Amino acid sequence: MKTQKKIALVTGGNKGIGLELSRNLAGAGCTVLLGARNAERGQQAVRQLEQAGLSDVHFVEIDVTRLDSVTAAAQQIESRYGRLDILMNNAGVNLRGDGLPGAADLDAVRKVFETNFFGALRVAQAMLPLLRKSEAGRIVNVSSGLGSLTLNSNPSSPSYNTKFIGYNASKAALNMLTVHLAYELRDTKIKINSANPGFTKTDLNDNRGTQPVEVGAIEATRLALLDDNGPTGQSFSKDGPDPW
Ligand SMILES: NC(=O)c1ccc[n+]([C@@H]2O[C@H](COP(=O)([O-])OP(=O)(O)OC[C@H]3O[C@@H](n4cnc5c(N)ncnc54)[C@H](OP(=O)(O)O)[C@@H]3O)[C@@H](O)[C@H]2O)c1
Repeated sequence: MKTQKKIALVTGGNKGIGLELSRNLAGAGCTVLLGARNAERGQQAVRQLEQAGLSDVHFVEIDVTRLDSVTAAAQQIESRYGRLDILMNNAGVNLRGDGLPGAADLDAVRKVFETNFFGALRVAQAMLPLLRKSEAGRIVNVSSGLGSLTLNSNPSSPSYNTKFIGYNASKAALNMLTVHLAYELRDTKIKINSANPGFTKTDLNDNRGTQPVEVGAIEATRLALLDDNGPTGQSFSKDGPDPW
């Protein structure tokens, strides 16, 4: 199906920041492929957006930790739309057992990396051929201030004491993916950036975040809709450039 509308895939689109990103991109006129690993939760989220008047939102099953699932999602997008314009690498976890390096459970650390870093890399690899067919592909890695080496080592940073070796390191690795993909794609029209949502009230932090999802989704939405003059290979929060 050929369409002028931008085709956007949001991983982990069924709740939290991902649901808000789906809402924003659909509101901005994109065809949104709301990715979720669980069909019931994904379809429920699609219905929620439909009830809000956003009709061009479609569920795509995608578990970012499973190559078969990611490959099937890419094949589905290829056969239905023939390209992808926007990839939001949003799916992420923060697991019990993660913590300071001396005590963190290695299995928890590995599982966090499997979703937050390998998941994003796996999805990027599967979707790149489709993004290359876009006139102006955009990839947004939903990262975190906790992935910043600068902030992790700055005692006056508000997040200085929030140290999860798995989660924080997985987001630092995700930021490296941003830099390397931007390098690899430097001669294309594809732009890739990291977005730091800020401390947002979602299930990820047992709803302890200090800002609503409407605020947490602002920067990633802006980066998804960058025009041709926009940056690539950089990191931003809604307040501007973020330190690596
Ligand atoms: N909240 C914050 O303060 C904050 C701050 C900085 C960065 N972030 C980042 O923002 C992103 C969204 O997090 P959130 O706060 O919105 O958390 P959330 O409400 O817990 O949402 C996480 C989403 O990721 C999905 N997910 C987890 N593992 C997956 C997998 N293997 N395959 C596909 N989807 C998977 C979840 O699906 P299920 O419903 O099936 O579990 C859910 O849709 C994450 O990357 C997170 O690290 C959040």
